[in-house]
Amino acid sequence: MFVPVYEPYLKGNEKRYVNDCLDTNWISSRGKYVNLFEQRFAEYTGAAHAVAVSNGTVAIHLALAALGIGPGDEVLVPTLTYIASVNPIAYLGATPVFVDSTVDNWQLDLDDLEKKITDRTKAVVAVHLYGNVCDMDRLTAICRKHHLLLVEDCAEALGSTWNGRHVGTFGDIGCFSFFGNKTVTTGEGGMVVAGDDELAKRLACLKGQGVSPVRYYWHDVIGFNFRMTNIQAAIGLAQLEQVDEIMARKRRIAERYKEEFEKRGLPLKVLWENEHSHNSMWLPTIRLDDRARRDSLMADLKEKHDVETRPAFYPVHTMPMYVKYAEGMAFPGAESLSYAGMNLPGFPGMTDEQQEWVIESLAQELK
Ligand SMILES: Cc1ncc(COP(=O)(O)O)c(C=O)c1O
Repeated sequence: MFVPVYEPYLKGNEKRYVNDCLDTNWISSRGKYVNLFEQRFAEYTGAAHAVAVSNGTVAIHLALAALGIGPGDEVLVPTLTYIASVNPIAYLGATPVFVDSTVDNWQLDLDDLEKKITDRTKAVVAVHLYGNVCDMDRLTAICRKHHLLLVEDCAEALGSTWNGRHVGTFGDIGCFSFFGNKTVTTGEGGMVVAGDDELAKRLACLKGQGVSPVRYYWHDVIGFNFRMTNIQAAIGLAQLEQVDEIMARKRRIAERYKEEFEKRGLPLKVLWENEHSHNSMWLPTIRLDDRARRDSLMADLKEKHDVETRPAFYPVHTMPMYVKYAEGMAFPGAESLSYAGMNLPGFPGMTDEQQEWVIESLAQELK
């Protein structure tokens, strides 16, 4: 039985709202769905302002640009993350300073982060990886103490909370992605959220070519075209209407994996949450006790059982363009997670039979 690692769940008003865009000719980046999606997204996350953008990568680029990050600035970022958490730092000519991750929760190692703060450190890009959440009490205290700006990369963590508060609302700016494998998708898409009114205005201005709010076709600053279309927003709105159902389905899948793996005593650890965090369970994430088995296990699952899986991200500091930023540094946590870690299929429409198949296949291969 083929089991993909992910597929979107388009069971609501997606078609109806997209047809409305087509029927009314509002297909570009103006139109009611962009505003509605932004409003509903702000309501859902509890953010004061939400600004829709064309993808999650530009969300981070826009956030750092709006905060004035540039050449000479150091930005702390985990090495264990998707490349898009780091590239925007480089786009702006700033220096990424890589931080290790903590093996039990896969998030920023805050002891390592504190050690790497210098006079040039301007900001932190904190990534809530695989739906789990960074320790926001300690991280926000560190940022306050050292006057650091905080951008939260919540691409994988829509719906995740820390002490009941949504991720993205702790830092200066929170960034989300709506790529096809995200909890809420718009095909490609993203959102930035901010609490500060002036910052929100700057985000909206920069995303739309820096156009003057009072003078037609006059541009006050060098901006970008990072706009989301009305069609994307129409899909996003329909998706957001189903977010509770999508999240509940993902949680059931994650809980079943955890229960079954523990019952069977499989040689692996499931990434979970703690007493402060609520993990949205974006993609079921495991770490094998025997890291040497990871790649062959993935190949066996695909070839013998037709089950798709994904390797954990490679540490970004090992990639050719970023090696030079990590000379003399060690990242034992990130490296062990990266090479022993993998994601299992976990999507809202996954059937019980499909999950049973994944569990049985994995148990057979690991016995
Ligand atoms: C942690 C992380 N940051 C940023 C992004 C970038 O988002 P996008 O693919 O929408 O550009 C992604 C996902 O793709 C991600 O997983």
